[in-house]
Amino acid sequence: MAAAALCVLVTGGAGYIGSHTVLQLLLHGYKTVVIDNLDNSSEVAITRVSQLAGDHAHNLAFHKMDIRDKHALEQLFASTKFDAVIHFAGLKAVGESVHKPLMYYNNNIIGTITLLEVMAAYECKKLVFSSSATVYGWPKEVPCTEEFPLSAANPYGRTKLMIEDICRDMYASDFNWKFILLRYFNPIGAHPSGQIGEDPRGIPNNLMPFIQQVAVGRQPALQVFGTDYSTKDGTGVRDYIHVVDLAEGHTAALKKLSDPKIGCEVYNLGTGKGTSVLEIVTAFEKASGKNIPLVKTGRRPGDAEIVYASTAKAERELNWKAKYGIEEMCRDQWNWAIKNPYGYQTKETR
Ligand code: NAD
Ligand code: UD1
Repeated sequence: MAAAALCVLVTGGAGYIGSHTVLQLLLHGYKTVVIDNLDNSSEVAITRVSQLAGDHAHNLAFHKMDIRDKHALEQLFASTKFDAVIHFAGLKAVGESVHKPLMYYNNNIIGTITLLEVMAAYECKKLVFSSSATVYGWPKEVPCTEEFPLSAANPYGRTKLMIEDICRDMYASDFNWKFILLRYFNPIGAHPSGQIGEDPRGIPNNLMPFIQQVAVGRQPALQVFGTDYSTKDGTGVRDYIHVVDLAEGHTAALKKLSDPKIGCEVYNLGTGKGTSVLEIVTAFEKASGKNIPLVKTGRRPGDAEIVYASTAKAERELNWKAKYGIEEMCRDQWNWAIKNPYGYQTKETR
């Protein structure tokens, strides 16, 4: 296990994708330091990751910290030598970003710049960044390859594009940097233990957390946004990926950062398969035994018709491929839901 000595800083590691990734890192033998301001997450997630990590739990440390707090970051880098950083911390609600753009630019852009400044000062120049398929906008064709033209339809998407550009500029200015920009498609599901999963605050915007809340009786029905798309059943098509597969994509990316040939590279993390809203609903009903009432409504502004990934580059260069299908994603989502109907809280504390 050559990776045992490597120490990774994970920003936003208490969140949905971060917590699953931290667990995989620990199981692969990495020392893992998590920082998170707990703005959209709970420290309970860290406790659960630690329990799931078993004998590896001693390699996990957590600090409640905002990535914009430069002084705190400097103190952390002064006390710990990091081999690489995985950067999840950021705000991610598209609708909120339209209403509060400055909050998004402040948190996501200033946060990232502060992190990069401190990394540079402490000679830690390897970063894996959470980008999104949102940068493909409404793609002219599918599957989306990493070379497709990029665009952003809202402030959230613009922060992803800007951060990608900042990383490309940093690399152009200093070839000692190594960046891997991971464009996630639609992560769903939860760890098969049902101990960690997605716990959105307020009413969820995304499809799967909304379906989950309908199934446990917290929402009356799912609104299907658009039934007139040119797709198999008229509803939007996306590339859903099991969050554990996505987490493994990060361990593959970390390994790739040790490749002397790597500079600033982009990889899609998806399955390469498109699934419609109605197909997801049917699969979830099967996994849960629950009926999901539907209300068919108009298209959601800003939604694309069909988005799914070309996975060829990640398979070839990261030696990574998603293993799980929709059935397992729904099974594990439901397992998390029944064990934690109010996420990391209880009905009373929520
Ligand atoms: P999440 O909200 O569950 O996790 C983000 C974490 O970052 C949270 O724990 C939050 O408290 C923390 N955070 C936010 N701002 C911070 C700050 N200034 N300092 C410290 N911590 C801060 O979201 P997620 O779904 O796990 O997403 C992780 C990353 O992946 C985000 O950057 C998101 O934009 C990106 N992404 C997510 C999806 C998705 O569908 N979930 C898709 C594409 C990209
Ligand atoms: C959305 C964001 C994207 C972001 C991603 C992860 C928009 C326009 N896009 O992607 O920028 O990176 O989340 O946070 O917000 N749907 C319903 N009913 C619902 C919810 C969704 O029918 O209540 C449909 C949508 O129209 C879409 C599919 O389900 O066809 C998936 O939606 P969602 O989970 O929100 O993901 P994206 O739209 O792909």
